[in-house]
Amino acid sequence: MTSNPLLLRERNILVTGASSGIGRETAIVLSELEAKIILTGRDRARLEQTLGKMQGSGHRVEVFDLSDCEAIPAWLRGITLQTGPLHGLVHSAGIQQTIPLRVVTAAKIEDLLRTNVTSAIMLVKAFRQKGCSVNGGSAVLLASAAGLAGQSGITAYSASKAALMGFTRSAAMEIAPEGLRLNCLAPGYVVTEMIESLRDNLSDDQFRIIQEKHPLGLGKARDVALAAAFLLADTARWITGTTLVVDGGYSAH
Ligand SMILES: NC(=O)c1ccc[n+]([C@@H]2O[C@H](COP(=O)([O-])OP(=O)(O)OC[C@H]3O[C@@H](n4cnc5c(N)ncnc54)[C@H](OP(=O)(O)O)[C@@H]3O)[C@@H](O)[C@H]2O)c1
Repeated sequence: MTSNPLLLRERNILVTGASSGIGRETAIVLSELEAKIILTGRDRARLEQTLGKMQGSGHRVEVFDLSDCEAIPAWLRGITLQTGPLHGLVHSAGIQQTIPLRVVTAAKIEDLLRTNVTSAIMLVKAFRQKGCSVNGGSAVLLASAAGLAGQSGITAYSASKAALMGFTRSAAMEIAPEGLRLNCLAPGYVVTEMIESLRDNLSDDQFRIIQEKHPLGLGKARDVALAAAFLLADTARWITGTTLVVDGGYSAH
């Protein structure tokens, strides 16, 4: 019998945004694949809720606000001194804000970019620090189909997600000599708390149009989590610098 090529037995994997939505489901799926997960977010109680849904043992919760971007490399080094080097990283923390161009401000743009882009760059910088990751390590960033296809009202968010894809192409070149891989996932609309809050700003007609743009319907967090597992595992050992679109056909129009 061949073994499951997606198994991540005993691999240390950091999951950001593990208190909600895609990050939470990713932590659960990776635990089912026997990885040891470091769950991070700002809310300990919600991280503990995720932990309660996970399989296996040896996982740990680390509360951290990723908008403190300069502190990320030292924070990650401190963790890996205790856990050993990381085999993987999934950066699912992010914010989505509907801000029409007529009301956008530089401060709002900078806040969004700090959480969605600067934190990602600093996490990858931290991951590639000597001793913080193993040769063969894989990092996955949550971009979005909104970085590929236009939609009014979310210009800064779209810019942040397109930035992650550009960053990924260049950073993948820089870290490949160290045996590290970096890829993005670009989901369409996945039913999570983020989308519930977006839903509150839309009329029923607007929401119906979004649903109709997904030939396979809206996604579930598990659809994205399984794609993250594929990119982390040896199944993707020859894949780097790219974006895997997981969007039910949204961007194929
Ligand atoms: N849902 C979708 O349809 C969709 C589609 C495409 C892409 N995405 C992307 O997928 C990722 C996850 O989305 P989601 O729907 O799962 O979102 P979500 O349910 O709103 O969860 C967002 C997560 O980010 C964490 N977070 C936010 N700001 C943070 C900060 N400053 N420091 C640390 N953690 C922070 C939150 O944790 P705490 O609040 O507990 O700190 C939470 O765990 C995001 O990057 C999003 O842009 C989502």
